Amino acid sequence: MAAPTDLIALINQLQDILSELGTSPLDLPQIAVVGSQSSGKSSVLEAIVGKDFLPKGAGIVTRRPLILQLSYAPVDPDAPDEPDEWAEFQHLPGQQFVDFDEVKREIERETARIAGDNKGISDEPITLRVHSPSVVDLTLVDLPGLTKIPVGDQPSDIELQIRDLIMKFILQPNCIILAVSPANVDLANSDSLKLAREVDPQGLRTLGLLTKVDLMETGSHALDILGGRVYPLRLGFVAVVNRSQRDIEARRTLEWSRKREQQFFGSHPTYAPIAGRCGTAALARTLNSVLLDHIRAQLPDLKARLSALIAAKQSELITYGESPAVVAATASGSASPNAVVLRLIALYATEFQASIEGT
Ligand code: GDP
Ligand code: NA
Ligand code: MG
Repeated sequence: MAAPTDLIALINQLQDILSELGTSPLDLPQIAVVGSQSSGKSSVLEAIVGKDFLPKGAGIVTRRPLILQLSYAPVDPDAPDEPDEWAEFQHLPGQQFVDFDEVKREIERETARIAGDNKGISDEPITLRVHSPSVVDLTLVDLPGLTKIPVGDQPSDIELQIRDLIMKFILQPNCIILAVSPANVDLANSDSLKLAREVDPQGLRTLGLLTKVDLMETGSHALDILGGRVYPLRLGFVAVVNRSQRDIEARRTLEWSRKREQQFFGSHPTYAPIAGRCGTAALARTLNSVLLDHIRAQLPDLKARLSALIAAKQSELITYGESPAVVAATASGSASPNAVVLRLIALYATEFQASIEGT
């Protein structure tokens, strides 16, 4: 995801150390995209990940949950022929995908395999893991859209079924809800906000996302919503402009879309003064600060775990016949490899805290 490189490096080093020590990793939140059908959920998720790989379009396209596991994989200097970045589906173990158009086609095939060809929905998720040197271990979930009227093979209680499916994900307290509302529909009718409010009544883990700001009627604007004067959410609202169906058909790239979005907000008479707080870049910043909040909240526990590990290692050394004086000296900085690692971790935890508090 579009996090600053130093944040990615920091989180990944910390995760590496924790896994080497055999202690549980940092608990990063899961991020789920919720909204009505064709509100732009899949487009937003792609913009966050910076990859064009999800089926999109008018009508019901996302028909099974897609669990996207981003997985940090450092570049291996000893394997120059291996790709730096690749994807793998849970249902096709061992098969490396390096072409993200092929990933999109496999999502389509796998959707049809379980949910049929005629607009059917299934709650059986597709799990896709993307290995990359430029991500942190984070899970994002793309979900079928809320809909009311059954079409094709959809059952008569389609509305309830989709609702239940979404609920399974957003009920989890560790889930950040990206509540998508198209800007060309009255926010009072937003299905995503209604659903998010049921599981997060105080709006503590819901981020409001206004999509299709380019499609708002001339003369209307979203300033009151973005300023938090219409609907209160602690994480606030971010406005984005993604590719239209025509842009996608003309094979416009995500980079093109990103530039056009910048131009849209930057040159718009209403949004120009707050352009820095609009768009995909602002969305990425908000998500980064959500991540940092989660890590910050875990620091006391992390420090306690590290201290316990250090104490355990020290008594282990004593058990193996080191004199307590040597152990004390070791822990305070001599050359025993164990102690060096532990001191590094202790230092690292402090540095990490400092760097977080500096943000
Ligand atoms: P989903 O059904 O909620 O996942 O929505 P999609 O991401 O599939 O988008 C539905 C349709 O809306 C697609 O044709 C997109 O190209 C289009 N779309 C999405 N976001 C925007 C936007 O910000 N502006 C415009 N004009 N079209 C958009
Ligand atoms: Na759609
Ligand atoms: Mg979709």
